Amino acid sequence: RYTSTLTNSTFFPVLLLFLSSPLQWDAITEMDEHNRPIHTFQVCHVMEPNQNNWLRSNWIFRQAAQKVYVELRFTLRDCNSIPWVSGTCKETFNLFYYETDESHGVKFKPSQYTKIDTIAADESFTQMDLGDRILKLNTEVREVGPISRKGLYLAFQDIGACIALVSVRVYYKKCPFTLRNLASFPDTVPRVDSSSLVEVRGACVEHAEERDTPKLYCGADGDWLVPLGKCVCSVGYEEMDGACFACRPGFYKAFTGNIKCSKCPPHSFSYGEGAAVCNCEKAFYRAERDPPTMACTRPPSPPRNVVFNLNDTCLQLEWSPPSDMGGRRDLTYNVLCKRCGPEPDQCQLCGEELRFVPRPQGLTNTTVTVMDFSAHANYTFEIESLNGVSKMINYPRSVAAITVSTDQGGPFMVGMLKKDWASQNSIALSWLEPEQISLLVVDYEVKYYEKEHEELSYSSTRTKAPSVIITGLKPSTCYVFSLRTRTSAGHSAYSPKYEYETTDDTSDMASDQGQVLVIVTAAVGGFTLLIILTLFFLITGRCQWYIKSKMSSDDKRRTNYQNGHALPYPGVKTYVDPDTYEDPTQAVHEFAKEIDPTRIRIERVIGAGEFGEVCSGRLRTLGKREIAVAIKTLKGGYVERQRRDFLREASIMGQFDDPNIIRLEGVVTRSKEAGCGQALIPVTSLTGLTDLVVLCAVISGRPVMIVVEYMENGSLDSFLRKHDGHFTVIQLVGMLRGIASGVRYLSDMGYVHRDLAARNILVNSNLVCKVSDFGLSRVLEDDPEAAYTTTGGKIPIRWTAPEAISYRKFSSASDAWSYGIVMWEVMSYGERPYWEMSNQDVILSIEEGYRLPAPMGCPVVLHQLMLHCWQKERSQRPKFTDVVSFLDKLIRNPSSLLALVEDIQGLAESPGEVVDYHVFISIGDWLDSIKMSQYKSSFVAAGFSTLDSVAQMSIEDVRRIGVVLIGHQRRIVSSIQTLRLQLLHDNGFHV
Ligand code: ADE
Repeated sequence: RYTSTLTNSTFFPVLLLFLSSPLQWDAITEMDEHNRPIHTFQVCHVMEPNQNNWLRSNWIFRQAAQKVYVELRFTLRDCNSIPWVSGTCKETFNLFYYETDESHGVKFKPSQYTKIDTIAADESFTQMDLGDRILKLNTEVREVGPISRKGLYLAFQDIGACIALVSVRVYYKKCPFTLRNLASFPDTVPRVDSSSLVEVRGACVEHAEERDTPKLYCGADGDWLVPLGKCVCSVGYEEMDGACFACRPGFYKAFTGNIKCSKCPPHSFSYGEGAAVCNCEKAFYRAERDPPTMACTRPPSPPRNVVFNLNDTCLQLEWSPPSDMGGRRDLTYNVLCKRCGPEPDQCQLCGEELRFVPRPQGLTNTTVTVMDFSAHANYTFEIESLNGVSKMINYPRSVAAITVSTDQGGPFMVGMLKKDWASQNSIALSWLEPEQISLLVVDYEVKYYEKEHEELSYSSTRTKAPSVIITGLKPSTCYVFSLRTRTSAGHSAYSPKYEYETTDDTSDMASDQGQVLVIVTAAVGGFTLLIILTLFFLITGRCQWYIKSKMSSDDKRRTNYQNGHALPYPGVKTYVDPDTYEDPTQAVHEFAKEIDPTRIRIERVIGAGEFGEVCSGRLRTLGKREIAVAIKTLKGGYVERQRRDFLREASIMGQFDDPNIIRLEGVVTRSKEAGCGQALIPVTSLTGLTDLVVLCAVISGRPVMIVVEYMENGSLDSFLRKHDGHFTVIQLVGMLRGIASGVRYLSDMGYVHRDLAARNILVNSNLVCKVSDFGLSRVLEDDPEAAYTTTGGKIPIRWTAPEAISYRKFSSASDAWSYGIVMWEVMSYGERPYWEMSNQDVILSIEEGYRLPAPMGCPVVLHQLMLHCWQKERSQRPKFTDVVSFLDKLIRNPSSLLALVEDIQGLAESPGEVVDYHVFISIGDWLDSIKMSQYKSSFVAAGFSTLDSVAQMSIEDVRRIGVVLIGHQRRIVSSIQTLRLQLLHDNGFHV
């Protein structure tokens, strides 16, 4: 009846025999409560004393068991339910065993048996149970062992009870055959000593191999415990449902491990099943060190647009990279030189006398300089592009050739370089175009430098016309100029040198005498006209104000003033300096809307400015909508000058209308005067601003406020510090693009910010960055970073261009320098520029040429842009319009952001190596490559065991697995971003 449901137990067949005679145990078949027959052994001699009735089993072969379990099911009669048996009736029986190596047949000697236990019933039955046919079945299990003989007998001794033995099960426990971690483990019998485990070594399944010896431990209860080690599918096989299956055609698996078969990389195939590698298509190859995961590639196409620049001593060859890189990034160039006679077939390889800088072979840049060539000779240079698979084929080579005649003189040369005029900062030059030139002139290059500084560093400018105006020069300074021509065949030699001097202030005036005369004449005439008009207005009672203050903003705009200079683009809307208004209040009202204070509800204080608190609140618009605003307040007890300085910012901001410039909603300037003599007046009574009393400083006198759009994420520096490492590079570039676009707008308006820094950029809930904090000198007073310079100005040294620090030359170019610093702040998540260096050290190190290094995880292109912004020569810095279009290109083509400065540094250590995530096969390799090997076990323990799974990780995941150091988090996250882009790119996605 007992078929086992326990998989980890083996049952023995048990046969019970009657032993003593007369037959005191009876074999009786009864019916259970469901009327099914049950075969039992029964005994019930409860009335007679001194009972000793035995029942014995057959000989049970022990097999592998060291310990056996005996399970008895029986019923037992309650003695109290039988009358007159109190002296003789028992409620227990005894269980015995006897170990032997062989069967003894029917021989039975009780003295040979060892008692296992006295068995009592949990529940005994009564007469009533019998009548109701209730079967009160007991189950008892006893352990027998250790057993060392081949088998054993069991025996049951009745000493006067009323028993029905319903079943006897004898079994031993084992750990059953199992498959774990691609290894099989055989049936295993546990040790008798239940506290020690049996160590079992597994055997790898078919097409799998051991990674670490697979082991399981068999516990006393037949359970497998503590899995260790594992097998992994061999190359060409992948794991599925605990077995290893061959990769399908078109797929491969190059490494052992429990990774899936991958699709053959581009330009490769596998026809059969179980491919370890995919073969390259025709005309595609794999270099020796290419991993099988990499696409098959081909040699590059030839270089393009080879040109040369020639002067007396140097021949510079330049070319563009091939249009087809062959799918690889390990591009190099070799240059081969041939010297040719008058006929094209009279060429022979150039001798050793020619020098190539840096070298003729293995070039990674697209230029080489050739020196020590002979004059009056014809050279042919073959520039060959090569990559890692070029040597797989002999032909065709990817070569572009150019022929250079070193015999070029006069025809390229231009005539005399003539000074047309000079002023304090500029010199205009012109020259005659070269004659007898068969090639088209591409442009001219004018090279110049201060005579005093010799030719150590020079500037140059290109022009297509035979004239140029060189600006940005120092007054009363002698400059040396020379000129060369560029044709499609390259550059000519430089012309002789010409020296011209800029004028000083007085000579400027002298040279402008003619103009002065005209102006004076006009002024006298104008003044006369003015007097006539004034008299006219006085007479007609209309003149109420000074002419200057009456001048409309349109007039001012037309005048296009900035720092006393006319601006270059008449007609374009330009910024008007509020200081040109005699009454600054008029400027405020010209550019800012007056807001009725009852439309404002102040909610919270969010910061403090130089003039008073900054609060957040709501503004009811005229369309009855409520918008979130920030309200800058002017502290009570202000003097008129403070009020004017405070409102200056509104007069400036009100002129701007750009999505990346903080928007001015309006100002409160005209609310009612508070009562005299009261130091603290509840503003409610003045303005109806109920919350203002509690939240913002109580204002005495007229409350004055500037109301601007609310930016939910506050200032950019603290926002980035709070979210260190949270953003993708594209998101950061998006922020930089917004800032650059805002500053482009300002510079187009002719406004120079002077204090661009992440702390002065505000961020809204959509991560849109907007430039804020306007007001020139006021801003700098307000800025805790601004320090006094030796010339007495207050300047935020770390953010300011050297010329602005030394001689207060603020311009859009100095804003470009500051923008570069903002870029650095953004890419380093709000780190302090130049860290803890003192201001003085910053100035000195900038002067010596030191520039901030790339923040960790910063794409090369962005650091290059920063360095471009930090050019000493301000005219060389990029214009904001170029910055915006450059960043737009990066956003459109994010793969250009893949190369990180760290990668490039790594490359410099091992030239010719390309950082390609394909080659990082395991997580371990990847972590090694970014020097984060210490986290291998954390990644694997958290289940991130494939690059694909790592590519999905967020910064939270990185933190969760135990990377606590911010720098490490940042390094890992930025590498994950790169990895993600690379995987997307490889899968043909365009981000
Ligand atoms: N802090 C200063 N100005 C702010 C604004 N406009 N929004 C949010 N916080 C600010």
